[in-house]
Amino acid sequence: MKTKKVLVGIAAIGLALSLAACSGGTRGGTTADDSAGSSKGALVGVAMPTKTSERWIKDGDAVKASLEKLGYKVDLEYADDKIPQQVQQISNMLTKGAKVLIIASIDGTALSDQLDEAGKAGVKVIAYDRLINGNKNVDYYTTFDNNEVGVQQATSLLTGLGVLDKDGKETGATGPFNVELFGGSPDDNNATFFFNGAMDTLQPYIDKGVLVVKSGQVGFTQVATLRWDPATAQKRMQNLIASTYSDGSKVDAVLSPYDGLSIGIISALTSSGYATDALPIVTGQDAEAASVKSMIAGQQYSTIYKDTRQLGDEAVKMADDLLNGRTPEVNDTTSYDNKVKVVPTFLFAPQVVTKDNYKELLVDTGYYTEADLK
Ligand code: BGC
Repeated sequence: MKTKKVLVGIAAIGLALSLAACSGGTRGGTTADDSAGSSKGALVGVAMPTKTSERWIKDGDAVKASLEKLGYKVDLEYADDKIPQQVQQISNMLTKGAKVLIIASIDGTALSDQLDEAGKAGVKVIAYDRLINGNKNVDYYTTFDNNEVGVQQATSLLTGLGVLDKDGKETGATGPFNVELFGGSPDDNNATFFFNGAMDTLQPYIDKGVLVVKSGQVGFTQVATLRWDPATAQKRMQNLIASTYSDGSKVDAVLSPYDGLSIGIISALTSSGYATDALPIVTGQDAEAASVKSMIAGQQYSTIYKDTRQLGDEAVKMADDLLNGRTPEVNDTTSYDNKVKVVPTFLFAPQVVTKDNYKELLVDTGYYTEADLK
């Protein structure tokens, strides 16, 4: 028990150091200029979930470009958020002779037959951003610290309400503030990490009565949003306003786990009569251009920036290592149990963005140009 605690402590320090090192920019190792060595020309399959969200387009483009720069062939596919389509695409990649698969899954449990086949053929599998569950042939995983994303979303909600100050200290504000909660897609392993991280942070304030979830809908399954669909979230927000807030009370904050949902939630609020300067604090994730514009316009309050360039570079580095007989570097060997094994993971650090720091985080780093946000 004691040894375990010490090991966990060491791992945590290691992770903190690595995350600190990475959040500043690129880290050492393979760059896009390194050669692919003897594996040059090998096919890498890249399976992305959907083009309806801007982030996955950025991810796919970045991964493809870096792999091609290293001399690999790339089969990049998007699956319209349809599970059978993704299954078919991955089968095709295997038929075409892919040597590595980089997969951002739609349903983290639906790819077992394909992964079995990959395992038999010696094809390596890298889970990209979302963990693939229930199969031993998931060799590596790279993602952002998903629990921390939830913590940051909840913390920014509390800051936006004035319960915490900018340094994270309690202000003594007692509310009560009306809050409604939204979760991500139940088949995406990340969604519960986000929700649990957020709820661990919010629960003490719910317990003290500073926050009130007026609808009473607090369980993940009650608040989840299948396939992260913005229209589903918009509809649920409309229903909440009509059912829970018809007495004239106001929503003060909405925990939203993804920018696409936040845009839907804000639409529901404005069409129900909330003026821009009286909108609740609405959180988000991904720093999508539409949401950054909404923050600049004083609508959405915050988002979480996950630099997809870092993630893409890492997945490419892992693929290149695997194709050349090297062991990929990881910084987390405890957090991501896919129900069959703990998958070795390289984690990156997410960051909270608001109107106050978007220039520094998103424009100065070249993630967006000022023109992208006009
Ligand atoms: C990703 C988030 C994204 C969500 C919806 C999650 O798996 O980690 O960045 O907002 O999917 O696309």
